[in-house]
Amino acid sequence: MVFTGYLIPLLTLSTQALASYTGNLNYRHARLGIDLEKVTARSLSKRDEAPYTPSQLNFTHGVASGDPYADSVILWTRVAPRMQSDESDVTVSGDVPLYNHETERFVEAKGLDPFTTYYYQFNALNEYFNVYGNVVRKDNVDYVVHLGDYIYEYGFDAAEYRTDFDLAASHQHFARIPVWDDHEIANNGYRDGSSGLNNTEYSFLNVGPQVSVDQRKMNAVRAYFEWMPIRQVDMDDGLRIWRSFQMGNLMDLIMLDTRNYNRSITSLEWNDDYIERIQNDTGRSLMGARQENWLYRQLSDSVNRGTTWRVIGSQLRFPRLEQEVDGEVIVNLDSWDGYRANYNRTPKHMYDNNIGNNIMLAGYTHTNWVSDLAWIGEKSYDSAIGEGAVGVEFAGTAVSSEGFGGTISSAEAEAGTYKKNEEMRWTEGYYRGYYELHVKQDEVFRAGENHLARPVAGGEVEAGYFRDGQVKHSNLTLNTETGKWETIGLGKMFLKVEA
Ligand SMILES: *[C@@H]1O[C@H](CO)[C@@H](O)[C@H](O)[C@H]1NC(C)=O
Ligand SMILES: *[C@@H]1O[C@H](CO)[C@@H](O)[C@H](O)[C@H]1NC(C)=O
Ligand SMILES: *[C@@H]1O[C@H](CO)[C@@H](O)[C@H](O)[C@H]1NC(C)=O
Ligand SMILES: *[C@@H]1O[C@H](CO)[C@@H](O)[C@H](O)[C@H]1NC(C)=O
Ligand SMILES: *[C@@H]1O[C@H](CO)[C@@H](O)[C@H](O)[C@H]1NC(C)=O
Repeated sequence: MVFTGYLIPLLTLSTQALASYTGNLNYRHARLGIDLEKVTARSLSKRDEAPYTPSQLNFTHGVASGDPYADSVILWTRVAPRMQSDESDVTVSGDVPLYNHETERFVEAKGLDPFTTYYYQFNALNEYFNVYGNVVRKDNVDYVVHLGDYIYEYGFDAAEYRTDFDLAASHQHFARIPVWDDHEIANNGYRDGSSGLNNTEYSFLNVGPQVSVDQRKMNAVRAYFEWMPIRQVDMDDGLRIWRSFQMGNLMDLIMLDTRNYNRSITSLEWNDDYIERIQNDTGRSLMGARQENWLYRQLSDSVNRGTTWRVIGSQLRFPRLEQEVDGEVIVNLDSWDGYRANYNRTPKHMYDNNIGNNIMLAGYTHTNWVSDLAWIGEKSYDSAIGEGAVGVEFAGTAVSSEGFGGTISSAEAEAGTYKKNEEMRWTEGYYRGYYELHVKQDEVFRAGENHLARPVAGGEVEAGYFRDGQVKHSNLTLNTETGKWETIGLGKMFLKVEA
């Protein structure tokens, strides 16, 4: 089960690879994948380029693996000329051989100063992606699950991200199991548009990159599949990334798309009153009927196979979340709270069919949340001991995006505005990072108990709002270079690399 080994030795520059600079080499399983020759042919005819000679090529964007099955894994690399910055400041157009600028991507960035923007990102990223490198140096896990917002809008910066040492190391060492969030395509998306793009001719012609909703989606999906070592599980459904992984009888990992797959209209800023009125409508779907039914079947099948744990990875936090500010209660309608009927059907399926040992993983909010999975208002739940819940949820913070923001004390004050939700035991939005989930037959929580052990976290946490005990700021961090717990300070928590 443990996928080990470095990928580099597996990859060699073959002549077939030479022409593929503008496409990628997506080494898929023979029975599942797009065939290499076609990928190569596609990039050749598309760009009409002459092949590069081997001395001009390099695995500039590293290597990656993902979507592990028991007997296979997707391997990825991209052969490109060595990363070099364009030393002129002219606007790039047409083909730019031997530079990392991918013309079509660069054109998307119009309005920016090409030279300055590029230079800034390249330097800054080595610092910001230290989180990924930390996972590698700690070497505690088998897989990395990524819950989206990996590529921010259109993927034009994916090439630069992937030259980051820490990110490249993460992709090289751990098979990754990813899903996208909204920003891989567009902010707050739904089946027919997004907050910044209506499904109207006026919008296509006048807003942003001037493409239709469908074209934009197609471009984004293509960029994602080109950069991520991900399986296309349904060749007839290009938008489908919901899929599952059986890891023996220990766990099933069920990955959902709660953001872009046939989703009913969401909050787009200008329509919030409307969404508030229809939020509980039975016909509203966050995942599309096909995916929703698939999820329920996955959960039931998993129990019937005798699998111990059901781990469900998706973008959105699942438990309701009410924020109370100056006596006013606010909910985020671009989340399960805006699709309540659809929400209710999930715990109903779990309770009705006695499906326990559920663990949800979520991203999206850039903030840490630890909660029992209770069905408030429908099933009794004893907040003090967790009795009545049907599992737990761990939602993680971000790698580089801001969470609650501000200082540690303002972030803690903001965390406190969510205390109304009794099943939510801890939230923290100051620190950036990742979390490890250790799954054993008898323990994530104690198998069969279906709630967090009390006192949660032994009664003490480092920061945030904590319902179950004390918050103590020790500021201790594991220095992965020395293996010691030390007070390093936020400004120094990244790997030094030689320029
Ligand atoms: C490719 O990268 C390796 C490792 O960074 C380096 O040693 C080598 O010189 C590079 N090759 C070219 C052609 O740039
Ligand atoms: C979408 O349509 C709404 C309603 O007409 C309008 O308020 C909004 O500005 C439009 N957004 C875009 C991006 O065109
Ligand atoms: C999306 O949902 C609509 C309405 O529920 C349905 O008619 C349509 O067939 C679905 N499309 C896909 C691709 O599942
Ligand atoms: C939707 O359901 C929630 C929770 O039951 C309730 O608080 C809210 O008022 C309902 N909204 C509408 C428009 O009925
Ligand atoms: C931890 O860091 C915070 C914020 O920098 C600081 O206010 C606090 O005094 C530190 N606490 C300890 C125990 O070092």
